[in-house]
Amino acid sequence: MHLSERHFKTISKLIEGQVGIKLPAAKRLMVEGRLHKRVRALNYSCLNEYVDNLFHDGQFEDEIAHLIDVVTTNKTDFFREPSHFDFMRDVAVPELLNSRGRADLKIWSSACSTGMEAYTAAMVLDDMNRRGSRFGFRILGTDISNVVLHAARTAIYTTDVLAPVPPDFIRRYFMMSRNRESDQVRVVPELRRLTGFMRMNLMEPSYPVDRDVDMIFCRNVLIYFERETQRKVIERLCTHLRPGGYLMVGHSESMIHSVVPGLKQVQPTIFKV
Ligand SMILES: C[S@@+](CC[C@H](N)C(=O)[O-])C[C@H]1O[C@@H](n2cnc3c(N)ncnc32)[C@H](O)[C@@H]1O
Repeated sequence: MHLSERHFKTISKLIEGQVGIKLPAAKRLMVEGRLHKRVRALNYSCLNEYVDNLFHDGQFEDEIAHLIDVVTTNKTDFFREPSHFDFMRDVAVPELLNSRGRADLKIWSSACSTGMEAYTAAMVLDDMNRRGSRFGFRILGTDISNVVLHAARTAIYTTDVLAPVPPDFIRRYFMMSRNRESDQVRVVPELRRLTGFMRMNLMEPSYPVDRDVDMIFCRNVLIYFERETQRKVIERLCTHLRPGGYLMVGHSESMIHSVVPGLKQVQPTIFKV
């Protein structure tokens, strides 16, 4: 049984209001497909009954978290859009260290999905230290979805996602399972210790994050937001950067330059405050 137009509209309004993500009519099939499992788990006879009950019996708070998990797109990769990590290693970190001497860098992956962006940054920074740099670093990952945050915290991945990771990084930063049949690997504790994850909605009017962050990744999430939401999110994020800090957006999100005029664009998808 399909979602009626009215019920789909209820869901899309709710999601846009809560997380800023637009769900155009073309997404109806996708939402239906992803919601079926939840509807069965709650013993509803159909999708429309599930939506009717969303607002009943004080279950809204619990259910909205599930609904967000269901509709968010969490695609990510290790070393996704690798030029950002080259820039971090070759330009941003040397420059930040030069301007401040010895330092502890703070990096924030602000729509971190399953943590691959955060752990990629951790590998690159640790590798710099092994090659002679001397700095400490902490990485924060935040996301709206509990499911991806759980995956990020456990840091267990299947081997197929390692394709973009250089072989020496795989040997150094991933533990193989003792079970030879297993196709799972886990990020080493040395990097996990430097990386923390927290649930946070980019739509909130303020973020519970330090205001002296050196580099913020906000990649492949702005594209789902309306222009006005994009502007507000970018402006809020920038208030958490220290002077000279960098903001990286996804390669299809360079348009934010026209949305937030005050930003200094260093490269198409790299900005500086
Ligand atoms: C496509 S993934 C991008 C992951 C990573 N930044 C990358 O580029 O590989 C988008 C992530 O944004 C998260 N997200 C969507 N809306 C959000 C919001 N309002 N607040 C925080 N995270 C959000 C989703 O849960 C999802 O994990």
